[in-house]
Amino acid sequence: MSENTNEGVLTGALATDRKDAWWVGPLLTAMGLGAFGVYSTIRAFANADYEWGPYLSPFYSPLIRIPGLNVSPAFLILWAPAGFRATCYYYRKAYYRAFFQHPTACAVNEIHGHSYRGETSFPFIFQNIHRYFMYVAVLFIGILWYDAISAFFFPAADGTRHFGMGLGSLIMVVNVLLLGSYTFGCHSLRHVIGGKMDCFSCTSFGKVQHKTWLGVSWFNNRHMLFAWCSLFSVGLTDFYVWLCATGRINDFRFF
Ligand code: FES
Repeated sequence: MSENTNEGVLTGALATDRKDAWWVGPLLTAMGLGAFGVYSTIRAFANADYEWGPYLSPFYSPLIRIPGLNVSPAFLILWAPAGFRATCYYYRKAYYRAFFQHPTACAVNEIHGHSYRGETSFPFIFQNIHRYFMYVAVLFIGILWYDAISAFFFPAADGTRHFGMGLGSLIMVVNVLLLGSYTFGCHSLRHVIGGKMDCFSCTSFGKVQHKTWLGVSWFNNRHMLFAWCSLFSVGLTDFYVWLCATGRINDFRFF
């Protein structure tokens, strides 16, 4: 309930003068992240139907099976992409608003009053670990490229592999392209590549560095777009592998 004080300032939770539908963004974010969180958790616990032919679900890549360890391989690796996304600058803004209402939105009163102190104190100060997750995420892009290329080599009955292309091969390539577009638009990466520099022409390799920085900046300007596209593509790639592995569909083979 909002009230007008003598000074004309609205008070109370969610009070605002805004006339636009400011709540639509946080609502869609909560629905999207919530759905992905539920789906990925179910699939990680499943510990089954994550590979078919040359296809491997990104939830299980790299595939690490430790004999005698009765744990889903997904849990051995998912901490890396999950940590990278959870500490991402864009996602932080998104889920602070969608789930914590802290802050709620620009020019909208918070449910919690004005106690938001950003990431300068416990527990959110740990979000600064993002710069280290970034290096691991870049490594994962290399691993997922290996999976995407392997998806073109189908196993034969005699144990050899032969070149071919199925719908799953294309899905895995699109997935890693979108994941790369998200990862290489990271704010931390942009800082490392050149965002911290005042003068590109003052260093050796300054031209190359400047061009690389411009490329990263191009992805960085579209970071939110690629954050969502890559999130959906990871889920859809896993879903496609699951459909094939459980025999619900046959992989469409081009050749
Ligand atoms: Fe989003 Fe680094 S800021 S991935």
